[in-house]
Amino acid sequence: MKNNIIIKFMLDGNLVSLKTTSNTRLLDLIRKDAGNTSVREGCGEGECGACSILLDGKLVNACSTAAISAHGKNVITSYGFSETEEYKIISDAFAEAGAVQCGFCTPGFIMATAALLMRNADPSTSEIKTALSGNLCRCTGYTMIIDAVKIASKNLKNCEKTFFSKILNSSEFIFDKTDANVLLPETIEQALTLVKEGFIPVAGGTDLIVRNHATRKESFDDHLIPPQVFSTSKIKNLNNIKTKNGCIEIGAGAKISEIIDFDKTPQILRESLKSIASPGIRNAATLAGNICNASPAGDSLPALYILDANINYFEMKNNEVLKKTIPIKDFITAPGKTILNNNEKSISIVSSISIKLLEGYDFIYKKLGTRAANALSKLNISVIYKKKNNNFIDFKLAIGACAPTIIRNITAEQLLIKHGQEKLDKILSLYSECLTPIDDQRSTATYRKNTALKIIEDIILNTETYSC
Ligand SMILES: Cc1cc2nc3c(=O)[nH]c(=O)nc-3n(C[C@H](O)[C@H](O)[C@H](O)COP(=O)(O)OP(=O)(O)OC[C@H]3O[C@@H](n4cnc5c(N)ncnc54)[C@H](O)[C@@H]3O)c2cc1C
Ligand code: FES
Ligand code: FES
Repeated sequence: MKNNIIIKFMLDGNLVSLKTTSNTRLLDLIRKDAGNTSVREGCGEGECGACSILLDGKLVNACSTAAISAHGKNVITSYGFSETEEYKIISDAFAEAGAVQCGFCTPGFIMATAALLMRNADPSTSEIKTALSGNLCRCTGYTMIIDAVKIASKNLKNCEKTFFSKILNSSEFIFDKTDANVLLPETIEQALTLVKEGFIPVAGGTDLIVRNHATRKESFDDHLIPPQVFSTSKIKNLNNIKTKNGCIEIGAGAKISEIIDFDKTPQILRESLKSIASPGIRNAATLAGNICNASPAGDSLPALYILDANINYFEMKNNEVLKKTIPIKDFITAPGKTILNNNEKSISIVSSISIKLLEGYDFIYKKLGTRAANALSKLNISVIYKKKNNNFIDFKLAIGACAPTIIRNITAEQLLIKHGQEKLDKILSLYSECLTPIDDQRSTATYRKNTALKIIEDIILNTETYSC
């Protein structure tokens, strides 16, 4: 019953009220139900940026966002944006720089440019490249597009930018309650009741919504109904990031871009989060989603293993709600498996991630992938260490994408701290024993294992050259 819902949101400044299902993508709601085709569908997997929109002023991909996430929010598409002075300046700049050929990618690039210039009036080339890293163009190449952003940035300086200020200062909408509110629980108890009824929590949707859609496409069945979802975005306190008693506590609903911007986030975690996907994905995705995916290649995971992160979750048993805490190494049990989904009967929801704040550590983060943005890791390594007189007095290293779950070898770490490089061969053989990668579409097992061992050796011998 609850799967059929009415979603209300502001679309390009107009209140819309649309009947849909909980597992619909925001892209389909905008294109098919609202009839706004300025939002394009390219890859449908979060990789090309053709479907870029602003959701409450932040760039996101409509193809990887659950429609339910837009309830009560402000959505701006390139169609709505095209009515503004800022749009005229940006699109004229694209024309002047020759940054448009077939034009399929252009609305997405324009939205990504708007999201950048709204907050950073004078971006450097490297900031422009990062801001556009989630958008692909198959015609022009990128030089002309980067030039266009620079021209737009210059020309926008003489414009009042009323639209940008309106977006940046807009407050949350409060609409009459509709049945969609049921799928936006405000308390943990309400969320757990939905889990009990078979609904799956969706946070950013960048994994779940993309996966659901891919399953539908692969089965060539448009009518295949993926699992029903509810959004965790309105649960009280779930979006907070705070420090207390020497720990940082990151709410399960906090977005990756917010965690990167939080000043107390451990550097090694910040660096690994910066390597995840692209701005549009990072504005929607959460750390909790990255953990619950339990992918061996999840980029935050090696950092969380060496920081000995704890996962806090609520479990409903016999109608009683219990708060539990478990170390991340015990939370993730196998590829795609956590203690929450291992047991079909478990009625649980992650509330936050706690990490003890450490001082005086240097760090190293290394990710190998096929593309700078939007590439899952072939291999990722996180290290934190302390050195005194050129000797390690502490050393923690974890490797992803090289075994069913993240690898951390405490014996090898202790050997290095006690004996230094003297025991290098033994240390490498300890790592070699636990690296059991597989061949997949991203890399081969041999490449992964050999490269991981070479990088570990290099990190031990030439630590400072690797340090971030
Ligand atoms: C184009 C693209 C590029 C990507 N690149 C990377 C990359 O470089 N590195 C990387 O590591 N990942 C990458 N990802 C994967 C994904 O973006 C991340 O794993 C992201 O952190 C998932 O977070 P989310 O909030 O969107 O999760 P969602 O999709 O909302 O959820 C993921 C899983 O977590 C569960 N879940 C979410 N919140 C809770 C909760 N509170 N309690 C219990 N369960 C919960 C959901 O039910 C679901 O099973 C990429 C994805 C795409 C589409
Ligand atoms: S259609 Fe490619 S990112 Fe959405
Ligand atoms: S102009 Fe054709 S894909 Fe970019």
